[in-house]
Amino acid sequence: MQYFQDQEGIVRRYMREKENWDNHFSNSKNFILKSAQTKSKNKAVVLGSGWLLDLPIDKLSEQFNEIILIDIIHPKQVVNRIKKYPNVKIQKADITNGLIDFFYKNKGDKEILNKIDFDKYLFPIPDADFVISLNIMCQLHIILIDFLRKHQEDTIKDLQKIEQQIQELHLKALPQGKSCLITDFEEEVFNEDNDLVGVNPLIRINLPLGNFKSTWQWKFDSSMTYRDDLKTYFNTVAIDF
Ligand SMILES: C[S@@+](CC[C@H](N)C(=O)[O-])C[C@H]1O[C@@H](n2cnc3c(N)ncnc32)[C@H](O)[C@@H]1O
Repeated sequence: MQYFQDQEGIVRRYMREKENWDNHFSNSKNFILKSAQTKSKNKAVVLGSGWLLDLPIDKLSEQFNEIILIDIIHPKQVVNRIKKYPNVKIQKADITNGLIDFFYKNKGDKEILNKIDFDKYLFPIPDADFVISLNIMCQLHIILIDFLRKHQEDTIKDLQKIEQQIQELHLKALPQGKSCLITDFEEEVFNEDNDLVGVNPLIRINLPLGNFKSTWQWKFDSSMTYRDDLKTYFNTVAIDF
């Protein structure tokens, strides 16, 4: 369902936008380390670990007894890279706790949206002292909704509702007082002359106020390859709660 291609795409775009992306990655890493300071140091869980581009794995592995990296696909380069950290383990799992499978098995079913029992799809995170939601909240619905669009027509309103429910469920999975959430919350689109031509919300729920937070702009695509003749920048928020 495109998860592999999407992950490969991240690396290709990173090569094109290295400087802008490095800035985003170092903001993410610094915030994670600040958030880690106030947490117990037995077990840390990372949701959406991917290529570990935005994760200070060296420092976290020194601080925590155990680190679990969770993603639907772990690139083999990452599997090799983490071998040097005996306390870092990988777990292959769907953070929507089975929604991907449900969408796949029910493709083409016109009633699919009415059949989702959201309570079943709460991702369990037992015994964690620190949970990092790593640039994944605004991504969780994207492939699922693209998949729906490909196989049937649903109204924008219905799709936005699903987006909201998936985000609500993700937030509910993050334990209060033990979490660090980093996500893009808004997309800004600029033309070649750097005039703002559009703004799209990426988060459809209220995010926690948190103990402390930070926001920054991530210049995601300045080479105008994501959208023809337009630059796409994300506004990102990091929240300790
Ligand atoms: C935008 S990336 C986050 C950046 C990532 N930390 C990195 O350095 O590559 C989102 C990651 O979430 C993963 N992902 C997306 N949906 C997922 C799901 N339902 N369950 C588990 N992982 C998922 C993707 O495979 C990808 O690695």
